[in-house]
Amino acid sequence: EGGSEDSGDDTLVMATNAEFPPYEYHEGDEVVGIDVDIASAIAEELGMELKVEDMAFDSIIPAVTSGKADIGAAGMTVTPDREESVAFTDTYAHATQVIIVKEDSDITGPDDLVGKTIGVQLGTTGDLYATDIEDATVEQYNKGFEAVQALTQDKIDAVIIDGEPAKEFVAESEGLKILDEAFTEEDYAIAVAKDNTELVDKINDALATLKESGKLDEIIAKYISA
Ligand code: ARG
Repeated sequence: EGGSEDSGDDTLVMATNAEFPPYEYHEGDEVVGIDVDIASAIAEELGMELKVEDMAFDSIIPAVTSGKADIGAAGMTVTPDREESVAFTDTYAHATQVIIVKEDSDITGPDDLVGKTIGVQLGTTGDLYATDIEDATVEQYNKGFEAVQALTQDKIDAVIIDGEPAKEFVAESEGLKILDEAFTEEDYAIAVAKDNTELVDKINDALATLKESGKLDEIIAKYISA
């Protein structure tokens, strides 16, 4: 754990961006969350030790493709674009992109976002969707929570972000709400280097075991109350 020894064959290096509760976030000096627990359960199945590397979200795929990390686990949505550069394992969670606005906002759904200023976390699918909205100005932040703070301060009109972190960020803030109309549905999976089909297969086997044993549900239930 931790330490500065080189990561050998028995170390599974996970690239993540710990600004995304409840999937990955800081607790003191530690990075914790659903993805960390899932990855460490997978590592255990593989007889490996997990090492977590925290970095900017848009550095995760480059870390995986360059071999700096073995896996990218970051509530990462499977997209055709990303599939050009990395392989994805089977999915382990379903998610939605939601819209956060001020409680008194006149924005009631995706259609009202035309021409608005929208905050997103840089390089996320929320960023992609916002960029597609007609006449919208997209403000990209390094952290999702920074976008939420900008909304609280009236610097932007809305935030597009994944549903679970949205709930946590709104609960920590004053005067914000999540719109009922979800923006879109997505699936999360673990990114692996494209040529490393062996690791993809091993992780898929481990995931299947964790699904069957109920361990996966247990991990998710630890962080998300139904
Ligand atoms: N699901 C979104 C995506 O794949 C956001 C993921 C952000 N994850 C993070 N750890 N910051 O683009």
